[in-house]
Amino acid sequence: MLHTNIIVAPTPEAVGAAAADVFEALIHAKPACVIGLATGSTPLPLYRELIAREKAGKLDFSRVRSANLDEYKGLAPDHPQSYRRFMQENLFDHISIKPENTIVPDGLAADVPAMCEAYEKQIETWGGVDLQLLGIGHDGHIGFNEPEDHFPAMTHEVALTAMTREANKRFFDSLDEVPTAAFTMGIGTVMAARKIVMVVTGADKHDILMQSFFGPVTPQVPASILQFHPDVTLICDAAAWGK
Ligand code: F6R
Repeated sequence: MLHTNIIVAPTPEAVGAAAADVFEALIHAKPACVIGLATGSTPLPLYRELIAREKAGKLDFSRVRSANLDEYKGLAPDHPQSYRRFMQENLFDHISIKPENTIVPDGLAADVPAMCEAYEKQIETWGGVDLQLLGIGHDGHIGFNEPEDHFPAMTHEVALTAMTREANKRFFDSLDEVPTAAFTMGIGTVMAARKIVMVVTGADKHDILMQSFFGPVTPQVPASILQFHPDVTLICDAAAWGK
């Protein structure tokens, strides 16, 4: 491991507060910064904390731009399980960020390569991502970059693995309803961020956390590439860190 800062916090809430500190520092230093955001359960305490801090007058999202990591293919923005809807309900609707300053890949894109290219272009036009938030899947995926034989560079379409569909079925009525494909920023897109914060909670993430940060760098464990990023802060709870 080369450049990873590690913070072990006692609880998922404390992980959220520690991650919020990183966002707060960035937004104070650069009010029109570009943040990369993730969905899933792990960032929820962070999002609650960011909402509370803006309400308390400690933060101002009115000039912040955000780009989300991923979206299910085939889900409309207002679908209850779409990642756009998740972001609206868990963060955007409660803070002062401007709707035009938030982007999520278009789940209904008719021309997939054009949508993916335009997504990359928008991030580039904004000047690149200053701070990228990541969670981690049990198979080491980041965004929806699943284990593969190479590290995909740019935003692209992926087929979801059985493991990821199984893990995400908790949000759907049945496994059949979980989409089989998604759009995700590439590993290259993620690695281009100037700073990365990964949040990890729960004992069930311990093994993959150790493999990712202390094992060999391999596309079979996509998160292991983070060992080569110059500015990663890993914030995990005691359960994920283990003994
Ligand atoms: C979601 C994303 C995924 C999740 C990962 C962990 O936007 O990028 O890689 O971070 O699947 O999800 P949770 O936090 O629900 O365990």
